[in-house]
Formats: sequence, C-alpha cells, structure tokens
Amino acid sequence: MASKFVSSNVVTLVLSLSLVAISTCMEIVTTNSLQNQKQLKQTNFVFYMHDRESGDSITTVPIAGIRPVKKWFLGRFGTTFVIDDLLTETPDWSSPAVGHARGIYVNSAVAGTDIHFLFSLVFTNKEFNGSSLEIQGANEILRRFREVSVVSGTGKFRFARGYAIFDNYFVDMKALNAVLRWNVTVLHY
Ligand SMILES: *[C@@H]1O[C@H](CO)[C@@H](O)[C@H](O)[C@H]1NC(C)=O
Ligand SMILES: *[C@@H]1O[C@H](CO)[C@@H](O)[C@H](O)[C@H]1NC(C)=O
Repeated sequence: MASKFVSSNVVTLVLSLSLVAISTCMEIVTTNSLQNQKQLKQTNFVFYMHDRESGDSITTVPIAGIRPVKKWFLGRFGTTFVIDDLLTETPDWSSPAVGHARGIYVNSAVAGTDIHFLFSLVFTNKEFNGSSLEIQGANEILRRFREVSVVSGTGKFRFARGYAIFDNYFVDMKALNAVLRWNVTVLHY
C-alpha cells in the first residue's frame, strides 16, 4: 500500500516536472524576416484633430492632477487628460472622418510648458481602416510647430516608425477647445 502510494506520488512528481519543463521551454522561431527583403515605403498625410474640453461634443476630460485644491488646467504640471479626439480630413468637424486619437496626455514639465502625448491614432477611413499608429513625445506648447515620434503601428503600419509635426489651426483658450493640424510621415512595409 505504502509503496504504491509513494510510486503514484513519484509519477505525479515526474508528470508535473515535465509540465514545468514544457511550460518553461518556450518555442522560439527565428526566420529571415520577409520584411527585410521588402522595400520600405514612406507615407505622408495631413489631418485635423479636434480637442474639445467643453461644448456639445466633449472629447477631452481631465482625470488627475497633483493639486486637487486648484482647478485642473492644461498648463499646470501633473494635469492628466484622457482623450478620444475626432480626426477629420479638413478643419471642419463635419468633414469626412479619418479616425480618432485615443489615449492620454499629461503636463509633464514643472514649468507647465510640455504636454506629454501618449496615444494611438485609430484609423477608420477607407485607406487605413483597422490600422493604427502610436504617438509619443513632448508637445512643447510654446513652439508654433511641435514634433512627436511615431513609435510603432498595426495593420498597414506594422513596424512603422516616423515623426509627426503639428501646429494649432484654431484655439479657443476660454472654452479650451482646439483644432490641431497634423502632418505625419511614416516608414513602413
Ligand atoms: C472599416 O471597417 C469596419 C469593420 O470591418 C467596417 O464596418 C467599416 O465599414 C469600414 N469602414 C470603411 C470606411 O471602409
Ligand atoms: C508635411 O511634411 C513633409 C515632410 O516633413 C513635407 O514635405 C510636406 O510639405 C508637409 N506637408 C504639409 C501640407 O505641411
């Protein structure tokens, strides 16, 4: 009885050890990248981003700030927003949609001068429907033209990298609504 008990335990032990072995032995497959044999394409496009903190179609909401006693404000260090900004073909809100800018931005300069962008451009237009680009970088708000990185992408933009330059097309400081004009340049396969 006792030996049977022991041996079944041994079997269990061996089984579980082999499971551990299987689960820790990750299969890694390295192949010559097809992408390396394909030519990189450069794509450039312009669109408009509608950032609205007030009015009928709010797309930008403050979610955190380091000084709760003061009103959250874009120009104040630590203030963080979640955005779902509409992207359109022309400055007109009702012009054909290109997609949405979804993610966050945070005032990350003690002096209040940089808004760190961290969001996805989620495309819904015919050309790039279902694809996305990842935007990251410091929006130095005192400059007329600001530049941020395109760090990656999905769909048509897999392995993408590039840069985006944008400026204010329209700003209403009182309502905290803005339209930014974007010019994106990406290399992708
Ligand atoms: C984008 O893709 C979605 C889901 O496949 C589809 O419903 C929609 O009609 C497409 N839009 C365009 C503009 O092609
Ligand atoms: C967009 O940027 C590219 C490259 O940086 C430039 O060649 C092009 O003229 C710009 N287009 C517009 C409309 O600003």
